[in-house]
Parts: sequence; structure tokens; C-alpha cells
Amino acid sequence: MNKPQSHAGATKWEPSPNNLEPFWMGFTPNRAFKQRPRMIARAKDMHYYDMGGRAVLDGSAGLWCCNAGHCRGPIVEAIQKSAAELDFSPTFQYGHPKVFELASRLATMAPGDLNYAFFCNSGSEAADSALKIALAYQRSIGQASRTRLIGRERGYHGVNFGGISVGGMVANRKMFGAMIAGVDHLPHTYNRKEQAFSRGEPDWGVHLADELERLVALHDASTIAAVIVEPMAGSTGVLAPPKGYLKRLREICDKHGILLIFDEVITGFGRLGHAFAAERFGVIPDLLTFAKGVTSGTVPMGGVMCRQKIYDAFMTGPDHVIELFHGYTYTGHPIAAAAGVATMDVYRDEKLFERARKLENVWADAAFTLKGHPLVEDIRTIGLVAGIDLKPIEGKPALRGYKAMENAFHDHGFMLRIAADTIELSPPLIVSENQIDEIFSDKLPKILASVA
Ligand SMILES: Cc1ncc(COP(=O)(O)O)c(C=O)c1O
Repeated sequence: MNKPQSHAGATKWEPSPNNLEPFWMGFTPNRAFKQRPRMIARAKDMHYYDMGGRAVLDGSAGLWCCNAGHCRGPIVEAIQKSAAELDFSPTFQYGHPKVFELASRLATMAPGDLNYAFFCNSGSEAADSALKIALAYQRSIGQASRTRLIGRERGYHGVNFGGISVGGMVANRKMFGAMIAGVDHLPHTYNRKEQAFSRGEPDWGVHLADELERLVALHDASTIAAVIVEPMAGSTGVLAPPKGYLKRLREICDKHGILLIFDEVITGFGRLGHAFAAERFGVIPDLLTFAKGVTSGTVPMGGVMCRQKIYDAFMTGPDHVIELFHGYTYTGHPIAAAAGVATMDVYRDEKLFERARKLENVWADAAFTLKGHPLVEDIRTIGLVAGIDLKPIEGKPALRGYKAMENAFHDHGFMLRIAADTIELSPPLIVSENQIDEIFSDKLPKILASVA
């Protein structure tokens, strides 16, 4: 391992792009990566290119974010123009046109009266912003005793304290102490015995939404501010909601005055064939988080769409007084906003959400050709997403998944994402039918053979 050198009394690295040591990589086994790095030099459309110029087909839209494909002309140009024209402008007490334009575009796209956009810089910030808005809303309508937040097992809402507290991924929580107080969790919705090899929403599991009634009975509705769920849980292996589940959650929330938050950081912007999953499932949440696809991954941005009643509840008091004491220096950053508007243009002009909807069956048919493979224990598909559970190596959970990812990149020119032993696929929405075929009938069979 490269070690720091002594320099004028302090221990310092020699600065060099070839020194992989000083970057402490998140959500990555650093030692394994640095021994056999997967380095990416550039990207275009459906492909990444490694340092030697070798093409790597992108099966995961980067990290579920590059929905329009990579380095798309109109988005690149908008970013370049904004960087030269307006590098930064505050959005506290000042404004700039692009952020208002983007807010109005999102409000038009979002279903129901999700008419207001609050901006931040990531999905994690979006989750925490939504939780804070929910708490502040309850207080502002005279329900200050509603401070409890309900998440779900196997939920992922980013890595900030609010998000990990309502999240349900054990590894993301156990190292970090007490979390925020007053949180409870619904059970997750996956049951392999009842749901194995589901295409779209599984038939089994609507009753799991009734667990919210149990939590209301336990804590009393007057203590509960909001429930947060991903319409489709992505990071814990692609778990589509059981048929009717989200509608049932909505009904129970309405009955008890509890806000419903959809975390659409992954499902937003066409991943499930619609602008938002809320539209696909016919359920309007009170708050809806987004990030990733809002700029097709090009510039960090996230946000929260809020229903009319939420915004209205804050617009009281003297006109000159701040209504919400929350925001980030880079809220609505001009370059991100310009990228967002250009991304919405690409989605609209190329009808990419419709395209995802039309490809859904082709995608699922192709994915299900792997059913029966001796290493495949379950396959789940919805929209342009697939989760493929591999049989774990005995006594070494997650090793087969890790090896599959390594071999895919180094030997088969393919980028995939893993959640332990689950392969997660979510290509850019510009993926062609030929590329879908290549993924499932060429790349994956070879990758699976390499980890048999
Ligand atoms: C549903 C969901 N919420 C929040 C996040 C966190 O987003 P970020 O990594 O941009 O903070 C993610 C990231 O994958 C996500 O899938």
C-alpha cells in the first residue's frame, strides 16, 4: 500500500492522480477496490469508457441517475452556458430565473396538486428536508404533538440522520448510535415464498399496509407526523409494492391525519414509465422527494415536491418574515437548475418516459429468460428495473454478488449494481432493444458462469 511521505515535519502524500490511497471511498470496500480499481475515464450515451478506451455498457444508469444517457448534447451545453454566465447566485433572499423555470416544469409534471418544489443537493438532503417539512407542517396547523416518523424495514432514504433513522438498512444504522428519537417502522413487503418471480407489483402483500393501523393503535395518531416509503424499494434489491399497498397506506394516513411521503429519488423521472411512480400507482403523496434523474446525474440536485395545503400552511404571518427556516447554500444552484431544465427538455422531446413504458415488457421478458438458472433464486422486474437474487456462497454472503460486479466490469464490459447478492439493473432510458438482448442473453449468462 502507498504510504504518506514525511514533508517538513508533517506526513503528506505526493499529489498524483495515480495515488489511489488518499480518497476514502464511501459504500466501497476500499482495499479491494484499490487492489483492482474500476476506473472510468469518460462516458457517452449508453456507455462508459475505461482508461484504456474500452467500452463498458451502463446497466445501472450510473447510480440510478443518468436516465437520459451520458453526456447528452443539450444538457452539456446548458451546463457550459450556465457556468460561463452565472456561476452562483444565492436563493436565500435572491433568485435567478432557471430555478423558477425548473420548479414550474416539475410542478407541471408532478401529479395532483404537488405544486411546489423545494430544492437541495442530493437524495439524502431531500429525505431530511421532507421529514423536516412534515414536522413543521404539523406544528403549523396546531398539531405539535405529532412528532413521530414512521419508516419501513429495508427502506433507504439516504445517509443523513433523518434518513438513516427512518431507513431500514441495518448496516447503514448500526454504527451510528441512537438515531433520531420517536421513529418506528412498518414491516418490509418482500416474501419470497409468496412472491417469487413477480413481474410488476406482486399479488401478495396488500395486508402489510394494515400494519400502519397497528402502529397507530400503539402510538396514537396524535403522535405521528408522517410515514415515508419508497414506492419501489430500490437499494435493498428492487421490491415493487404489492398490488393495492400504496393506496391502502394513503387511506390509512388520510383517516388519521398522517402525512404520506414518497421517496422518489430512484423512481422519479421515468424509471417506472412515468414522470413519478405516484402517477403510475395512482396515489398522490403529500410530499415527494426527488434527486438523481432531475439532472440526469450531471450536477448534484435534489428536492421535495409539496402539495398545495403544505405550502399554504406556511404562508402565514407578516410578509417580511421567513416562513421555513431550512435551506442549503446550494439550494437551486444555477448550474444544477440549468441542467435540470435541459434534462426535462430531453425527457420531453425524446418521450423517454413513454419509451420506458413501452420497453417494460421487452425488458421483463428478457430478464425472465434467466429463470431456471441454477444460481438465480428470484427475479423481480418493474419499469426499467430488475433485481436478480443470486444464490449466496455458503458462509460468505455478498461475495458472489461482489465477484459478479468485478467480473462484469473487467471481463465483460458491463456496469451493474449489487446489493449484497442481488444484481440490480436500471439502464438509462435510451437503452435499445438490442442492448437489452445483449444484457440478458450474452453478458449476464457469461457473468453468472464466471461466478458459478
Ligand atoms: C430512495 C432513495 N432515497 C435517497 C437516496 C439518497 O440519495 P443521495 O445518494 O443522492 O443522497 C437514494 C440513493 O440511492 C435513494 O435510492
